[in-house]
Amino acid sequence: MQRKIVVLGTGGTIAGTSSVAGANVGYTAGQIGVQQLLAAIPGLERAAGGVLVAEQVAQLDSKDMDFEVWTRLVQRCTAHLADPLVAGIVITHGTDTLEETAWLLHQLLDASRPVVLTCAMRPATALVPDGPQNLLDAVTLAAHPAARGVLLVAAGRVHGAREVSKVHPLRLDAFESGDTGPLGWVEADRVRWAHGQAPLAAVPTHAALVPALGSAPWPRVEIVLSHAGTDGALVDWAVQGGARGIVVAATGDGTLHHALEAALARAVAAGVQVRVASRCPLGRMRDLPDAPWRGADGLSPVKARVSLLLELLQASMQASI
Ligand code: SIN
Repeated sequence: MQRKIVVLGTGGTIAGTSSVAGANVGYTAGQIGVQQLLAAIPGLERAAGGVLVAEQVAQLDSKDMDFEVWTRLVQRCTAHLADPLVAGIVITHGTDTLEETAWLLHQLLDASRPVVLTCAMRPATALVPDGPQNLLDAVTLAAHPAARGVLLVAAGRVHGAREVSKVHPLRLDAFESGDTGPLGWVEADRVRWAHGQAPLAAVPTHAALVPALGSAPWPRVEIVLSHAGTDGALVDWAVQGGARGIVVAATGDGTLHHALEAALARAVAAGVQVRVASRCPLGRMRDLPDAPWRGADGLSPVKARVSLLLELLQASMQASI
């Protein structure tokens, strides 16, 4: 029996097309099937070191990512990872919410094999599309014997799920891993790890949720921004609208406008979970031991929201036992 690399398609610019020949912008994401994307890349089976299995899980612009697609993606990854012949999984995804999906999968999936997300900044119909090289690199990474856990490869750089963020709306190399830098590079047909070896795989903190995912509604968790002139009304509206969690993108080292702080205190009194992340893209804010809310453990606001969603799901699952 031959080992397999599974490629799951979810859409994105990598599968996008434009009616204007060669255009890099003004295209429609999520048009070309994953099988067709693979068929256009010579040498892919060789890079996989086995057979490639393609499956279309969704076909969307990732700005429209939702809980239903997330649930399906987790379930399909879990099913494939249960097959011992699967050496790794590649997921084609839009760049816009890629870091959220990566952080979700990181907390849920068995990390004993690689799950590599990849993407493109130019549509498949561009004069020089970046998707085919990214996909080839992703298959190379997924087939690497030391690769583990949820990774992202784009523009030749390998990033981890925790640190990676999209930092640029247009350039091909649109992702950064902040202060830590990339985990490695895919150069020609080999992987070079930044610290001489592949990083250890983290234990997924919410793996127990996977079997029940989709059976209970996802909780409402909103993100609000602390900025000049805020009055905290968005927090009150979120609570009235049924939010069970609020993530604040705070200024600097976790500081909050006093009006927002008062609104968050009302939210906490109403039983809403509050997490404070920094709106600064680099560095790591300190913990908040004396505050009535928790810090976001160095996560960006969008990833802190994913973590809080899973925490709340876990709590409601435990309450229903
Ligand atoms: C998307 O996120 O699906 C569209 C944008 C992109 O992939 O770059």
